[in-house]
Amino acid sequence: MSELKSVTNDGHTLAPMADFVKQANLNLEQVKALRLKAETNYTDFWGELALEHIDWHKPFSQILDETNAPFYTWFADGQLNVSYNCLDRQVLTQPHKTAIIFESDSGIVNTISYKELLVQVCKFANGLKQLGVKKGDRVVIYMPHSIEGVVAMQACARIGAIHSVVFAGFSAKALADRIADTEACYLITADSSNRGGKKLPLKTVVDEALLILATKSRIKNIIVHKRSDEYCYCEEGRDIWWHDLINNQPDTCEPEIIDSEHPLFILYTSGSTGAPKGVQHSSAGYLLGTILSMRWVFDIKPNDIFWCTADVGWITGHSYVCYGPLAVGATQIIFEGTPTYPDAGRFWKIIERHRVSIFYTAPTALRALIKIDASLPEQFDLSSLRLLGSVGEPINPEAWRWYYEVIGKKRCPIVDTWWQTETGSIMLSPIPGVTPMKPGSCCSPIPGIMADIMDESGNPVERNNSGSLIIKRPFPSQMRTIWNNPQRYLKTYFPKEVGNGEYYVVGDSAHLDNDGYFWILGRMDDVINVSGHRLGTMEIESALVAHPRIAEAAVVSKPHEIKGEAIVAFIVCKGSLRPIGAEAKELAEELRLWIAKEIGPIAKPDEIRFGDNLPKTRSGKIMRRLLRSIAREEEITQDVSTLENPAILEQLKQKEY
Ligand code: WTA
Repeated sequence: MSELKSVTNDGHTLAPMADFVKQANLNLEQVKALRLKAETNYTDFWGELALEHIDWHKPFSQILDETNAPFYTWFADGQLNVSYNCLDRQVLTQPHKTAIIFESDSGIVNTISYKELLVQVCKFANGLKQLGVKKGDRVVIYMPHSIEGVVAMQACARIGAIHSVVFAGFSAKALADRIADTEACYLITADSSNRGGKKLPLKTVVDEALLILATKSRIKNIIVHKRSDEYCYCEEGRDIWWHDLINNQPDTCEPEIIDSEHPLFILYTSGSTGAPKGVQHSSAGYLLGTILSMRWVFDIKPNDIFWCTADVGWITGHSYVCYGPLAVGATQIIFEGTPTYPDAGRFWKIIERHRVSIFYTAPTALRALIKIDASLPEQFDLSSLRLLGSVGEPINPEAWRWYYEVIGKKRCPIVDTWWQTETGSIMLSPIPGVTPMKPGSCCSPIPGIMADIMDESGNPVERNNSGSLIIKRPFPSQMRTIWNNPQRYLKTYFPKEVGNGEYYVVGDSAHLDNDGYFWILGRMDDVINVSGHRLGTMEIESALVAHPRIAEAAVVSKPHEIKGEAIVAFIVCKGSLRPIGAEAKELAEELRLWIAKEIGPIAKPDEIRFGDNLPKTRSGKIMRRLLRSIAREEEITQDVSTLENPAILEQLKQKEY
């Protein structure tokens, strides 16, 4: 908090650079006009933008329908096809423009033009149709970050199938849960993926997931893209090679006509309770959000080389790899590997090699690279860069300044973009060339987004105060519901206690400074943000207690220099004795591997402590606040007199190995 204060109080802003202002897509007057229009005629504001930026098969007559609030609909009687908007309309005007420059983990480069990409998507879409995939069917995609990942998603969009991409770092168990929840009948994967010099056997994980599901699996076919020459198990009748499927398929495929509200995809994300939730997005509203942010926030121009480093398995990879950049006809980079392989210069080398002009990444990657060698980027020619972006977690002012000075050479504005899986596209960000920046602040809502910060009694906070971030009006790119669980959608995002269920409560706390700038403070629920990835403490706790030796588990976070937050687990074992010394060390390692198997390596706790019990109130509630203080090695100043077992605190403070 003290660091935040020192930053928010200094009122220091960086004015937009004159050179950037001259060429920016939006100027101050235009932003003012957009904001005024949104204030005075909210629905027409969105309606006009939707007509201008989307190619409609049948234009809509109705803009926003709030009859069933908060199950809002946008442009409901309009019809379109998202893949048509991403591909066909570019092919009409610029067929040979490069759509994607792919660089593999080992450095091999492959490029594909819009025309070629459309052919790939059509062939694959025809293949899916031949297998029997129909509009509305769910298709799970478990693919490496690749051109084929994008082809698979776009092909689903083309035929109206609903894709659900599962990040290829998730375990067989996590994959199985998602397949079951979507009730998917088709799955697209690759034999393996390459990251950081290591080969990951994706198809083996898929096979394991289906074994876990056993008779509950509805999967009829698995399509496997061949990425390596190694042997890969294939089940006769069920598994089919990607290249065999597209062989002899026609290279055109009429896009399916889709209603605006038809679900484009489901993407699972962690919440505070229970299993991950399937965030369901619409077609038209979602597409509009990605297009507008590409133009307003990324200032996209025809000659840009855009690079968003996020994997297609996350929302950022959906909106700013698969959909946004293609919908505006941009050229983009897809990089399969990691920022530190073969060395910590990899990102900068890619920027130099492909003359990247817009670079969008997560603070955790920046912090890791700063730690390895803060001056390494100086060895590269980064002069092609003109705009930098940050996403996924708060960017600390030190990392911001390094990004600004060492990477952007003080020439490039930084857009610190706040948004979520649920919002579909960027909500808060400086408008480059217009908004004076403050290092560490995501500045203000973009035009049309009515965000505010509320105190505990549901009133907007005064300047220089903090509270809960909310969005007051529905917006086109917001999630429509939680797949199969509308009650959870209502309860989680539109709680009755805040504005009588009228506002979208995002789950983050934020600070409003004296200039009206927003500063994201972090999650208010039991969600931990590790390296920009959301993990629910409950999810990790249930995975831990599923281990045969574990009786109880409580998971909290502590700050981490590079990852932002790290996971600390407090464990009570079954039986009377808690493990100590070598035994504790061994069990801790076993539990870390267990978590990697149950959820995925990103959820492995950094630290595991064992106790005879956990600090509990007399009614049996675990006092997580105390555990948080212990994990952070802070002095416990809270009242512990209501604790059933205060002595346990001393025991948990000891590190046993
Ligand atoms: C956090 C990622 C501070 C926030 C696009 C949010 C941020 C959660 C920022 C969503 C930012 C995202 N500054 N915090 N610029 N961007 N967050 O769903 O807590 O993976 O609620 O979406 O990440 O994470 P998600």
